[in-house]
Amino acid sequence: MIDTLTEPLFERIARIARSRWGLALHARKFSLVQNRLTTHLRKSGGTIEAWVQRIERTPTDADMLVFFDILSTNVTSFFRDPTHFGFLERELWTPLARGTRTAAGRKIRIWSAACSNGAEPYSLAMQARECLPPEQKWEVKILGSDLSTKALTAARSGVYAESQLAGLAPERRKRWLLPAPKATEPGWSVRPELREMVEFRQHNLMDSPNSMGGPFDCIFLRNCMIYFDRETREEVVLRMHSMLKPAGWLIVGSAETLSSLKVPFKTASASIYVKE
Ligand SMILES: C[S@@+](CC[C@H](N)C(=O)[O-])C[C@H]1O[C@@H](n2cnc3c(N)ncnc32)[C@H](O)[C@@H]1O
Repeated sequence: MIDTLTEPLFERIARIARSRWGLALHARKFSLVQNRLTTHLRKSGGTIEAWVQRIERTPTDADMLVFFDILSTNVTSFFRDPTHFGFLERELWTPLARGTRTAAGRKIRIWSAACSNGAEPYSLAMQARECLPPEQKWEVKILGSDLSTKALTAARSGVYAESQLAGLAPERRKRWLLPAPKATEPGWSVRPELREMVEFRQHNLMDSPNSMGGPFDCIFLRNCMIYFDRETREEVVLRMHSMLKPAGWLIVGSAETLSSLKVPFKTASASIYVKE
């Protein structure tokens, strides 16, 4: 018998996703959810109905992480949306290098708060290394977090297939990547000097961020809020506000905006906000 996802089951899944993660699961995601769920159940066994029931009634943490992976979209790339990186180069790295901007203890902290496979935090690490002369001894630490176990495993491995390197100019590839060991071929591995700048942690944006360190000079919160309803977006942005240094930047996806939210940020540039 072929086990298919029905609309009532999809609605039940959407209800849990909304209450647990603030995710607004649109009907157009129906086929994607069906395909991923059937692939998962082919391996783990059981029916869709039984799986939904367990998720509703007695889910374990592991069940919920699998569930999140089934729903989440992890599309990302190195130096995605170059205007954001251009802004940081102009407003942060270059002024630091020239001495026209300072930072307490020569420490800079950046949080990539929905980092997917790590391309975003590693791009930040590359840029910091390229712009800051080593003899100036800045301590730059980048935190990458995501809820998706699949995404975090990829991020921690720091190994990327050729097809994932589209955003990287040839000179950057040469400078920052090494051919991955044969076992993980085909792939490219991020150099140790970048790895040591980036720490990865599993974090749900719905939870309190207080244990995430900080305060941060800048938070990247890009291309994840599009899945949240307005109320959730406002809550998440306020949590990020509490984690920024005074006048710290919050950078959202280029298709995202804070304009309809009641949050204490002012616009610095399109999709870039300054803490008030
Ligand atoms: C489309 S990717 C964006 C990756 C990267 N920020 C970029 O712009 O290229 C969205 C990421 O948000 C993560 N995400 C969605 N909801 C989340 C939540 N509630 N907590 C933590 N991460 C979440 C997903 O797992 C996914 O990796």
